[in-house]
Amino acid sequence: MNEPVTVAILAAGLGTRMKSRRPKVLHRAGGRYLVEHVIRTALALTTPDRIFIVIGHQADQVRSALEPYGVHFIHQAEQKGTGHALMVSADALSGMDGRLVILYGDCPLVRVKTLEGLVAAQQTSGAAGVILTAIMEDPTGYGRVLRDADGQVTRVVEQKAGTPEQLAVREANMGLYCYRAAPFWRHIQELRPDNPAHEYYLTDMVEVLHRAGEPVTSYRIDDPREVLGINDRVELAMVDRLLRDRKVRELMLSGVTVEKPETVTVDPDVTAGMDTVIEPFAQLLGRTTIGQDCRIGACSIIQDSELGDQVEIGAFSIVGTSRLEQGVHAGPFARLRFDNHLEAGAHVGNFVELKKTRLGADAKAMHLAYLGDSDIAENVNVGAGTITCNYDGYRKYPTRIGAGAFIGSNSTLIAPVEVGPGAYLAAGSVITEDVPADALGVARVRQVNKEDWARKRRQLVKTPKATP
Ligand code: UD1
Ligand code: CA
Repeated sequence: MNEPVTVAILAAGLGTRMKSRRPKVLHRAGGRYLVEHVIRTALALTTPDRIFIVIGHQADQVRSALEPYGVHFIHQAEQKGTGHALMVSADALSGMDGRLVILYGDCPLVRVKTLEGLVAAQQTSGAAGVILTAIMEDPTGYGRVLRDADGQVTRVVEQKAGTPEQLAVREANMGLYCYRAAPFWRHIQELRPDNPAHEYYLTDMVEVLHRAGEPVTSYRIDDPREVLGINDRVELAMVDRLLRDRKVRELMLSGVTVEKPETVTVDPDVTAGMDTVIEPFAQLLGRTTIGQDCRIGACSIIQDSELGDQVEIGAFSIVGTSRLEQGVHAGPFARLRFDNHLEAGAHVGNFVELKKTRLGADAKAMHLAYLGDSDIAENVNVGAGTITCNYDGYRKYPTRIGAGAFIGSNSTLIAPVEVGPGAYLAAGSVITEDVPADALGVARVRQVNKEDWARKRRQLVKTPKATP
């Protein structure tokens, strides 16, 4: 019998040790908010309408960040403990039949497999609940799992409330549970804050149910690191590292070469094709997709961009929301800011900045240029130092350059302006008017050579000033 699963994710706590103005669960690790990882894992067990996030501190921020997932929210105005978080959820949740799985918003490493094991353990045992446990070297800070002579779980005792003998137990409560909804909701209001912290402990449900003749059992995992909850920024960095490792590993196993993988940052939604090479310290972010046989140079940052096959990004290049077709080369030290489209075989060299620009097939801009709001057709050669003056202090204007045009070095194109196909611009020109197809545009002062000028100047300087 596959009973439906309802998931409650506790995320109301303040997270004091983060020392932050933002809610703990909205800190990021592995390219996502902490709580997003938990929601995504929960989505493997159930549908969004059966996922409830208990929020409290900075509730509005958490709610708006998670709205796209279509999950529900429960407001816990005052945080009086993990048990209290469920007590205030009773109105919304006690009508949900089947099973109740309880997770924490600050535990992003939990795997679907583990939760499936937890739910399966409840199903096969038929127990009122199953708690996730692990044997720990040092369980300090965790609740300890106490059992009777038959090995039956009787209660969980918190660090603050435990006697020395109880605290000597090394089986720790990981804080994740699967309960049968009916007995859980029938007894939840029996929790009492009779402990040193005066909190309502969710862990006391084990004892409450045990006493009511509804035994709770345990599901033990081997590696407690999987349920590592984040309390401070050191743990945040650790978890980020683990999640990044998982992603880079996945890429490598799918046929991507990653050099010095521990230095590379890849966001979860990024894809890369076979035989692509990612050099050290590269960052592939957002919704970036990369084709086959590409090379992403060291220290480059690629964000929300689409790269075709055989694209080469030289070291220290930055690419944002751009589309680079097959065989494009960019960098080293290129900056493709946003909304650029580089067609097949286009080349962009060092210290070239592009913004909202199309660079046609096989077009080149190899050195030191700014090309903004430009439409540059195929086979155009943009010389070193070319600048499109797209902004007059008020508005942006377009520049259009026709196929096969040659833009001499250090040209300044005052937009709006159009250079026809096959035209030439003389180096150093300031172009303020359209240049027709196949014409030469020259816009600079004609050179004057003054014979002997330099030699005379030298003599003048050497001669002592005549005294009057
Ligand atoms: C809890 C368990 C402990 C277990 C440990 C594993 C209790 C009483 N103890 O302790 O046995 O070993 O987890 O990590 O449950 N939260 C709310 N509302 C509240 C209080 C907490 O939403 O009123 C949320 C927090 O934001 C956090 C989670 O619940 O995400 C856990 O709370 P926390 O206070 O950190 O419990 P632990 O001390 O870790
Ligand atoms: Ca905790």
